[in-house]
Amino acid sequence: MKIKLKRYNSIGIEELNAAKRVVSSGKLSEFVAGNSNDFFGGSNVKKFEKYLAKFYGVKYAITVNSWTSGLIAIVGSLDIEPGDEIIVTPWTMCATSTAILHWNCIPVFADIDENTFNIDPNDVRKKITSKTKAIIAADIFGYPCDIDALKKVVGRKKIKIITDSAQAPYSFYKGRLTGTLSDIGGFSLNFHKIINTGEGGIIVTNNDNLAKRAMLIRNHGEVRVNTKNKSVLSNIIGHNFRMGEIEAAIGLQQYKKLKMIVKNRTLMINKLIINLKKLPNMKLPKIQKNFSHNFYVLPIVLNKNILNKRSTIVKLLRQIGIDGANEGYVNLHTLPMFTQKIAYGKKHFPWSLSNKKYVYKKGICKVAEELHDKTFISLEVCLYDLNKKTVNKLMKAFKFVWQKLKIEK
Ligand SMILES: Cc1ncc(COP(=O)(O)O)c(C=O)c1O
Repeated sequence: MKIKLKRYNSIGIEELNAAKRVVSSGKLSEFVAGNSNDFFGGSNVKKFEKYLAKFYGVKYAITVNSWTSGLIAIVGSLDIEPGDEIIVTPWTMCATSTAILHWNCIPVFADIDENTFNIDPNDVRKKITSKTKAIIAADIFGYPCDIDALKKVVGRKKIKIITDSAQAPYSFYKGRLTGTLSDIGGFSLNFHKIINTGEGGIIVTNNDNLAKRAMLIRNHGEVRVNTKNKSVLSNIIGHNFRMGEIEAAIGLQQYKKLKMIVKNRTLMINKLIINLKKLPNMKLPKIQKNFSHNFYVLPIVLNKNILNKRSTIVKLLRQIGIDGANEGYVNLHTLPMFTQKIAYGKKHFPWSLSNKKYVYKKGICKVAEELHDKTFISLEVCLYDLNKKTVNKLMKAFKFVWQKLKIEK
């Protein structure tokens, strides 16, 4: 059996025309460092940010040239010192944790919840120390993390909550959009996301101080900007994280389509889930009431009695043409850069080999490890053009594999 799935592409004529308009204007970027309004970007950047702030219902939407840049700017916007701890989920992309290293702070991994694959607030509670300055939770695969539970864990402590909603530009938690419920959060606009600008990111926050610092970091940390409160601006290492005018113009068009895109794609994935549920021995996501999932990835957990078949299932699905099927996900705490301390070299590693307090090895996030090693399959539905035909093809492939491997109740 062989099937061919059409690649998903959210870019169309509207984006082409928007890009053409910018090119014709000759102004591909208008950012200038220094004490003027140009410090905050060109006309398309400002227009896009205004639209985004309204879309997400936040005071500030700050565009950046990638969400990795966004995460670095966010960590830098906090009230942190080298050696401070930031609790982070191991099930995310590596940039979520390396953003912490960029400021010489220490990533402390907390385990994930086995049903949502998001950071487990109970394990976060256990990992909090007097040095904890923030928690970075991800809305992984497009499903919201339990922000209320995290807020409860933090209580009155001076710990900021950051949400990495790279994969969840339009998911709802208790009726409110993910990314907007933490102190500061944001989204990725890289090419394989639900909507994209090629490369790009968006920071969202209602916090004046965090927003100002993030905007400074975005544009070289130039302290020449007009500010009355110099104390919050000291020691800012800035970068060039500025978004170009073409990306901003395309981004605006992409956001105008986002609701419709997610609505259609969710409809299709829900059809797929209903059908997949007819196959035995796999667990599919349960969406809580008043929550939504924008399905960047479809997470599948196999029952324990067919564990020995996981590799063959994925191999067969790939052979058939489902190239988005993968075994396991990531466990950042086991990456060589943490376990072998090669990120900076021994001498420069921020918390040094002699500091035995921080341990990165298998065994510290058992739920994540068990899922990764044994039961989890990710289906990267972000790769496919989702329509009824795709759903039927995917279903056929799964049925074929289940029959071939004689997977029964
Ligand atoms: C959860 C998560 N965090 C961070 C990133 C980094 O985003 P970007 O590629 O825009 O830098 C990604 C990108 O795939 C991601 O999925």
